[in-house]
Amino acid sequence: MFIQCIACREKYDEDEIIYSCRRCGDLLEVKYDYKVLKERLRESDWMSLPLSVWRYRDLMPVRDISEIVSLNEGGTGLHRCKRLGKLLGVKRLYVKNEGENPTGSFKDRGMTVGVTKAVEFGMKIVICASTGNTAASLAAYAAKAGLQCIVLIPSGKIAYGKLAQAMVYGAKVVQVRGNFDQALKIVLELSEKHRKVYLLNSINPFRIEGQKSLAYEICDQLNGEAPDKVIVPVGNAGNISAIWKGFSDFYQLNLISSLPQMIGIQAEGAAPIAQAVKEGINSILPVDRPETVATAIRIGAPLSWKKAMRAIRESKGTAETVTDREILEAQRMLARHEGLFVEPASASSIAGLRKLVDLGTVNKDETIVCVATGHGLKDPDIVMQTCRKPIEIEAKIGPISEYLGLSKPIAPTATL
Ligand code: F0G
Repeated sequence: MFIQCIACREKYDEDEIIYSCRRCGDLLEVKYDYKVLKERLRESDWMSLPLSVWRYRDLMPVRDISEIVSLNEGGTGLHRCKRLGKLLGVKRLYVKNEGENPTGSFKDRGMTVGVTKAVEFGMKIVICASTGNTAASLAAYAAKAGLQCIVLIPSGKIAYGKLAQAMVYGAKVVQVRGNFDQALKIVLELSEKHRKVYLLNSINPFRIEGQKSLAYEICDQLNGEAPDKVIVPVGNAGNISAIWKGFSDFYQLNLISSLPQMIGIQAEGAAPIAQAVKEGINSILPVDRPETVATAIRIGAPLSWKKAMRAIRESKGTAETVTDREILEAQRMLARHEGLFVEPASASSIAGLRKLVDLGTVNKDETIVCVATGHGLKDPDIVMQTCRKPIEIEAKIGPISEYLGLSKPIAPTATL
């Protein structure tokens, strides 16, 4: 195992604490010798372990499995969504519900590995910039490991559930007068300057290694097959890159026989990657003032855009934008038809699917997996703003039955 620059291919030792290439400044990734991995898997009992990030420990970059920092992450449901699928015109629709993770988002997959590395490296402080979920997750894993945690959040609205999590887990939270991209720049500088401060944004190549388990799980949940298309909300673009890496690993290891197309969805007001893909250009034009109701993906200059574009290009996928209105409609549809309550950023994958079916990009016979990245209770405010408040009625059965339309007997043929 070693670390390599995605652009100039410069190699670094796995023990180096490094976040970007010293030669050209580009992004780094962890590389493995697949022959070694195949051998390791052959000798391993991984298939008898429960579905979780650590079922795939043979494919994770940690030294000592008995020293991992874990809150029992991964193993999230891949829900077959028949009712929603029918409404959207897709025969086999699945939602990978990442809200089932310990702190309620997919970030936990990355943090269990990232914080384990922080401990391995002997770091005492971990840091990140975050629109909320990364902060909540890092704070929890830092608490578990006994590390100090610092998070920088952007100004403007932050979902309260996420902020409450970061605070209760004991992180030092700083709200920066600026957007996410500015906050990220500061934590990058702080971690370069203070070598005991370990950076755990998705630029950290080890974090992505944990997140690739999302793809492994999908393959195992589909009995050793990859879906046709995987639809992923995109913010800073680490996750779509990680998921593609996971599918690519399984393909190289002969654990699946085909690869899915990766589809990235961005909110219209924060969509530099989707714009570039749609216009067929090879670089992004950052958005200065990103704006969307999906605050988790309110990011104008995604750091991992090159990895995301590579995932989309290599998988022959695409990217699309959705409006705030489409996101909130999708959130409600998923809740009402499937009993899954996800946060707005997560619902963007469903909104994207709806749009792609209309555009004919998704065919009704394909197997589609939408990744729902975070739990709806992270951001209940947005739902309360759009739903009618409950009315208060006297504590008497008469008026309550009247209001509910239950004052007359229900006809036996009636269906709910
Ligand atoms: N969905 C949710 C719920 C998120 O919190 C994020 C990112 C994404 C999707 C996008 O993932 O950045 O890997 O493309 N949230 C980060 C944070 C930025 O700080 O919590 P990405």
